[in-house]
Parts: sequence; structure tokens; C-alpha cells
Amino acid sequence: MPITFFIETVGCQMNVLDSELVAAGLLRKGFAPAADPKLADILLFNTCSVRQHAEDKIYSALGRLKHVKKYFPQKIIGVIGCMAQKDGETIFARAPHVDLVVGPGQIAQIPNFIDRIRAGETPLMELSLDRRGNHRHEVESSFDAYDPMRDLPARESPHQAMVRIMFGCDQFCTYCVVPHVRGPEQSRPMGEILAEVRQLAEQGCREVTFIGQTVSKYSDEEGNRLSTLLECTEEIAERSPLARIRFVTSHPNSMTRDLLEAVRDLPHVMPYFHLPAQSGSDAVLKRMHRGYTSGEYREKIHKIRETIPGAAVTSDFIVGFCGETEEDFQQTLRLAEESRFKNSFIFKYSPREGTKACELFADDVPEETKKRRNQELLELQNRICAEDNRAIVGAEVEILVEGPSKNAGKLKVLGEETSEVLQMTGRTPCDRITVFDAPESLAGTIQKVKIVRASAFTLFGERVKE
Ligand code: 5AD
Ligand code: SF4
Repeated sequence: MPITFFIETVGCQMNVLDSELVAAGLLRKGFAPAADPKLADILLFNTCSVRQHAEDKIYSALGRLKHVKKYFPQKIIGVIGCMAQKDGETIFARAPHVDLVVGPGQIAQIPNFIDRIRAGETPLMELSLDRRGNHRHEVESSFDAYDPMRDLPARESPHQAMVRIMFGCDQFCTYCVVPHVRGPEQSRPMGEILAEVRQLAEQGCREVTFIGQTVSKYSDEEGNRLSTLLECTEEIAERSPLARIRFVTSHPNSMTRDLLEAVRDLPHVMPYFHLPAQSGSDAVLKRMHRGYTSGEYREKIHKIRETIPGAAVTSDFIVGFCGETEEDFQQTLRLAEESRFKNSFIFKYSPREGTKACELFADDVPEETKKRRNQELLELQNRICAEDNRAIVGAEVEILVEGPSKNAGKLKVLGEETSEVLQMTGRTPCDRITVFDAPESLAGTIQKVKIVRASAFTLFGERVKE
């Protein structure tokens, strides 16, 4: 029986990618994925520190494992990712049955650590240097780049892949723990990224998403910018199965004209931007240290819409940030109303130890008010989603088919279709989720679909057979 592992992942796409890479490393050792986390020989939590709630859930899960470890002392329990970097030794103090604590800059070493733990060396901890009190280049080199070639795919979908183009963040928004736990901003060399994309394309990957905390700031040592990277990726796409290129997350201050024009002119680059606004109030944006005013943000949205009509823009918002008044919040509602985001991720402010906001400002908006504002902004966003999705009814759109939808149910045979069809899901170029009946064999292909109905979160269509 092979040794089995299970990786429980929370948080952003960066974590999803890290888990994939760790899984690939463990598969390479001959370990097998466990179907049930309870039965796994190795149980790893890939954690997030952005909000308190995410951390509380991990500590509760660790608490529940105390007895399991008593009965199965051979089971290896590890905490990896952002919370590992942030809490370090505290994790062992709160959960002494944990064997392994590894920060996001050391995940390459996990297979090696597992060997050492199996040989009796436990607990083990490996973290990057703290940004405070250490020189930048020392901190940078303490975050090991880990983006190996994907010889063993451990992805959920064979047709889609994320590719990291940047590490860390230098933006230091006052509420955010990311620059502390993911380290200084570093762009990967473009040649390395392109080699990875080429390999993915050879494996049949149809969609690549470039990820980083502020991808619009991408700039490698040779001076290549995101627009150059997109142009070179376009060339790969023209000669391979790669059909779609996306990138997340952008920062308003680095949305340059050449970037917008690259998105407009390169057919394989999708007209989609994740451009978090965070707030619509200048006073709040200033306290957040976002580096732009609401007017400047509006100007960016205007430029996007002018350059690429029909592009989708999505946003993140924090409600109830320190000192946020009712008027500040009304300004956020106005910005969301005007910007007509394709969707927004809305969060209640959660103070994070070690951040400037936590040091300087009181978390003075009551929880009830945060909840109400969250709800109000969500309702506004849902109304916009429903209206904008409805406006697409009747249109024909190109869908990259991902696979059977969650409600696919049983296979059924439809009309003159010779093979069995079921409800499949995929996305439009603007990333709108679309479901329609089709044979499962179409997963990974681009299909023309006529939209016949829409809800706030889903488009329902019929395949247009050519
Ligand atoms: N509290 C609430 N939300 C936060 N985010 C980042 N830090 C915090 C915090 N302390 C949100 C921001 C960011 C998203 C990834 O998480 O909106 O864009
Ligand atoms: Fe955090 Fe701001 Fe960096 Fe985004 S840009 S990761 S919100 S510090």
C-alpha cells in the first residue's frame, strides 16, 4: 500500500497553485492521494492569514486532530503556507501534535521534510526571514522560488493551469498581511515562465492564468513587462492548443496603456480584469494606503471600457475598515453601482497583527454594522450581476468547456445527439459561468453556445452546432 497524503487548501489562487506543486512533489515520491482525509498518512493544511476567520478554522481543525494523533502517532500533520510563516512556533504551542510547519517560501522542501519526519525527526519548522529587521536581498533569497516544470500534472483540470509570474507584494496596503508572509515582490524571469507555458500547452492545456498579487506590475530583470509576456504567450498560443490567456490580480496604478492595448489586440488574451477597488471613499483609500483616489480608480475603469468595450472587471471590497463612516460606505456603494463589476468579493475588515492598520487605527466599526454593509453591498452587486447576465440572453458566446456541472445528474440522451450528453459547465471570454447540455467528450474544447436564460450567477445556454 502506498503512503497516502491529503492537502486541505484554503485561501487564494496562490495557495491552490502551491498545493498543486506540493502534491506533484509527493506524487513523484510514489505517494498516492488519499480519497478521505481521515485515512491519509500525511495531512497537510495549506493555510491563509488574510482574515482571522480563516486562521480560527485551521486551529479548530488542528484541535480536532489531537485525539487522532494519539491513536495514530505515525500520521504526519503539517501546517504550510501563510499562517505557518506568520505564527511559526505558536502553532506547536497551540497544537503540539503538529509535526511540520513550513512557510510559503519553503514548500519545495516538503518531500524532504516528510522523509526526515518518517525517520523520527519531529517536529520540524522552516520559515523565510521576517521582513522587519533583515536586509531586503536576504529576505528575498530566503523565499525559495518554487515553480518546477509540470512533468506530473496534479491539477484539478487537465485543460486549465495557473502559472505564477510574481511572488510577494511591496504595496503594503495597511490592512494586509500578505507583504509580511509572502515576502518582497519578485518577478520571475520571462524565459522561465514561457518555458512553463510551452510545456503546459504541449500537455494539452487550453487556458493559462498568470497569477501574482500585483501582476500588472510584472517586470523582470531584463525589463520585460506584462504586455511583452502576453505578446510572447500569444505566439505560443498561435502554434499550440493553448486558447486562452488570463491574468490576476491587477493593481489600478499599474494598468498602463500598453497593457490595455495588448489585451485589446491579442486575440488569445481574454478581456477580463480583476482590479480590486477596496473602497469608494478617498479618506478610507488613503488610510488603506491604496495609492489612488476614487476618481483615479474611476478613470482606470473608464480607460478599460473605452479601450476594450465589453471587457469584464471584477473587484474586491473591504467594508467596515477603521473609521469608515456611513457616508464613506455610501461612496463605496456609488462606485460599485457605477463600475458595474462582473462580480465583487466583499470582506468585513479583520485586523491583522503586524500590519500598519492594526498598529495605527482602532477597529471601531461594530460587527453588526460591518455585517449590514457587507449585506447591502452584496445585494447591490447581485442586482448588477443579474441585470448584466440578463442582457446577454439571446447572444452567442464562445465557451471553453470545463467538464460536467455540479448538477450534472445522470447521463441522458438528447434528440438527435448520438453520444450521451449531460449538463456541462464552462466560461465565456469574460469569465461568466455557463451551463448547457453537451457530451462529456467536449471538455477542453471551445464551443459556440446561445444563451437562453440567465440568473445572477449562471448563464444557461444551448450549443450551436455548426
Ligand atoms: N480584512 C479583510 N479583508 C482583507 N483583505 C486583505 N486583507 C484583509 C483584511 N485584513 C481582502 C482584500 C484583498 C483580498 C484578497 O482580501 O479585499 O483584495
Ligand atoms: Fe495585500 Fe495590497 Fe499587496 Fe493586495 S496589493 S496583496 S491587498 S498589500
